[in-house]
Amino acid sequence: MLLDGRKTADTLNEALKVKVEQLTKKPKLEIILIGNDEASKSYVKGKLNTASNLGMEVHINYLDEAIDQVSVEALIQKLNTDKDVHGILLQLPIPKHLDSDHLISLIDYKKDVDGFHTMNQGLLFQKKDGIRPATPLGIMMLLDFYNIPIEGKHVVIIGRSQIVGAPLSKMFLDRNATVTITHSKTKNLPSITKQADILVAAIGKPKFVTKDMVKVGAVVIDVGINRVDKKLVGDVDFEHVEPIASYITPVPKGVGPMTICALAHNLYALYLKQEKE
Ligand SMILES: NC(=O)c1ccc[n+]([C@@H]2O[C@H](COP(=O)([O-])OP(=O)(O)OC[C@H]3O[C@@H](n4cnc5c(N)ncnc54)[C@H](OP(=O)(O)O)[C@@H]3O)[C@@H](O)[C@H]2O)c1
Repeated sequence: MLLDGRKTADTLNEALKVKVEQLTKKPKLEIILIGNDEASKSYVKGKLNTASNLGMEVHINYLDEAIDQVSVEALIQKLNTDKDVHGILLQLPIPKHLDSDHLISLIDYKKDVDGFHTMNQGLLFQKKDGIRPATPLGIMMLLDFYNIPIEGKHVVIIGRSQIVGAPLSKMFLDRNATVTITHSKTKNLPSITKQADILVAAIGKPKFVTKDMVKVGAVVIDVGINRVDKKLVGDVDFEHVEPIASYITPVPKGVGPMTICALAHNLYALYLKQEKE
């Protein structure tokens, strides 16, 4: 069965829209977009459209590819102190001459809508209330929407990045799953992935997960976004894995819309904390 991220996001966003309509002020998101990366521009457009449709305010700061570190830092500091701004998002990747870790560390963690700040990552790893990274949060929201049980399940995640694999593993752990994280140095990967009740692919390699790597009846979450011949392709060989999976996310319209949905929910949560409504 298809885990339809588009429809799920639409449903959850509709409910959020009603809540946003009741607020006295509009939640405001500031996006910092540096350079001309086409994929980044399209992600930012998706975030802008969704948040605007929900009645949230979004402002995009288009910065030149050649901008220097100090100027970006100054912009972040300005947005940190602006009381009308509830969320700040630095669209990644940024040009190599800039220090993304340092820039993220400068964002006030109370406005860190992406949940990438060390403080929010620490709160996650201490199982405390905080902003969770949008893609892992979106995946959990999708599984919950379809009432897919997590407790006691063996979750195998391929990929250990700071934005997907690592935080997701902790979120599954906190839901009482048994979690295995795999990566590029993992030996005998298929023998591990075949044990998964829930298999998450967050690698960035088109059709990497083949049918022989998946247990019959597994839930398969495909995080990958790869552009092949101008088409979007996931990390899972959907055509051959779909018939044996109990549930599977498509690419596109799977994890992508759920990430933006989770981001909007994060902005709403930040707004409530700042405005104390
Ligand atoms: N749908 C969404 O909203 C969304 C959001 C974020 C990312 N994405 C997509 O998700 C994918 C992953 O993103 P990311 O930022 O997590 O990527 P990343 O930072 O490049 O991490 C990729 C991970 O895959 C692992 N890996 C690479 N080759 C492998 C192999 N042969 N076997 C096992 N593991 C391997 C790497 O292992 P090492 O750690 O050992 O290098 C690394 O942990 C990309 O396609 C990205 O575009 C989608």
